Amino acid sequence: MALITPAARTINNLIKNTTHPSLYHVASRANSWWSGVEMGPPDAILGVTEAFKRDTNPSKMNLGVGAYRDDNGKPFVLPSVRKAEELILSQKLDKEYLPISGNADFCKKAIGLALGDDHPALANGLNVTVQGISGTGALRIGSTFLSKFFPGPKTVWLPAPTWGNHVPIFKHVNMDVQQYRYYDPKTCGFDYNGALEDIRNIPENSLIMLHACAHNPTGVDPKDEHWDELSKVIKQRKLLPFFDMAYQGFASGDVAKDAYAVRKFLDDGHNICLSQSFSKNMGLYGERAGAFSIICGDKDEAARVLSQVKILIRPLYSNPPLHGSRIVATILNTPELHSIWLNDVKGMADRIISMRSKLKDNLEKEGSVRNWSHITEQIGMFCFTGMTPQQVEKLTKDHSVYLTKDGRISVAGIASTNVDYLAHAMHQVTK
Ligand SMILES: Cc1ncc(COP(=O)(O)O)c(C=O)c1O
Repeated sequence: MALITPAARTINNLIKNTTHPSLYHVASRANSWWSGVEMGPPDAILGVTEAFKRDTNPSKMNLGVGAYRDDNGKPFVLPSVRKAEELILSQKLDKEYLPISGNADFCKKAIGLALGDDHPALANGLNVTVQGISGTGALRIGSTFLSKFFPGPKTVWLPAPTWGNHVPIFKHVNMDVQQYRYYDPKTCGFDYNGALEDIRNIPENSLIMLHACAHNPTGVDPKDEHWDELSKVIKQRKLLPFFDMAYQGFASGDVAKDAYAVRKFLDDGHNICLSQSFSKNMGLYGERAGAFSIICGDKDEAARVLSQVKILIRPLYSNPPLHGSRIVATILNTPELHSIWLNDVKGMADRIISMRSKLKDNLEKEGSVRNWSHITEQIGMFCFTGMTPQQVEKLTKDHSVYLTKDGRISVAGIASTNVDYLAHAMHQVTK
């Protein structure tokens, strides 16, 4: 029988003898374990969506969240994904657990997509590839492994700015977080010289994070010749490059073109880490399909690394989810579906590229004299508009256009029916 203290008995009697709700509240609070827990701040991006939902203006636009919308502003399920799901359903497969490392077919095809299926690193068994809970989970596996086994300084060098989640992902595993220059607010473009100078000063044997393509939040990517030089300098500094590839195909519409940096670094002899996400390029946001890979020095090293990665995953979530990985593996393994998917990705990328041009043209038609060329020069889902926090606030307050305070808009959330509305609103707050 549980012990009841005199104080608890008094409280219980009070509850029994009163129907007054405030007294009940006081009594139950006094018993709580969590009264010392402070209210945390809302998530920067999900908070934007909450505010958007409350707005009753019929012209409102949500450009905060990084999810693709079709030209009617609706979520889009890719035709290749629909077909793959029909095929999977017709096979009446079971729902058994996956292995700790995930769906082997999925892992093989995922790393093949990044490196090229016939890459010698794969033929020689140098890769460790495990399925993660999408891109975030893949990064989490990577950061956990690195915090335990990386022999260099336990510091990660991130581009400034970077995807907001990179910082807590590494801080949660007690790694130190530093930044190198990346975005130049003066040009709204890549700060090539600043990046090179900072990277040249990173202590040898450190870890550097690179966005493989469609940099989030800026939409600013290094050109191929910039990547060539970055690879050289990173090699000279003996840094371990960790590529985050959350948008392969989504940037240019061409999966090989978007993999340029990853493949170039491998050609130059880097042994990279890589996280991949299929949220955007297959529209599998809620299915959580992603992969984490390490390219090792030899097959034996790969076997040892894999064994340790599995030991880290087991107490985290035992094994990853099945359905999303089956969709990805089915698409990448079925030639007919594969070519439908390439077309789907290109369609999404092209629609985004055309929205960029329309937004820029409409701003010019509105009479804006500002230089908006970065809207079409940047690539991928996001555009870093260069608007100030005050202009962003006004855009939301006066025009019901929702975006993050840093001036980032998700171009994938613009449709041909409201691009003129957006241009008008942006001009009003920036003129
Ligand atoms: C740069 C970057 N990395 C990783 C992710 C992870 O996405 P997810 O966990 O949804 O696959 C995102 C998503 O927005 C991203 O922008």
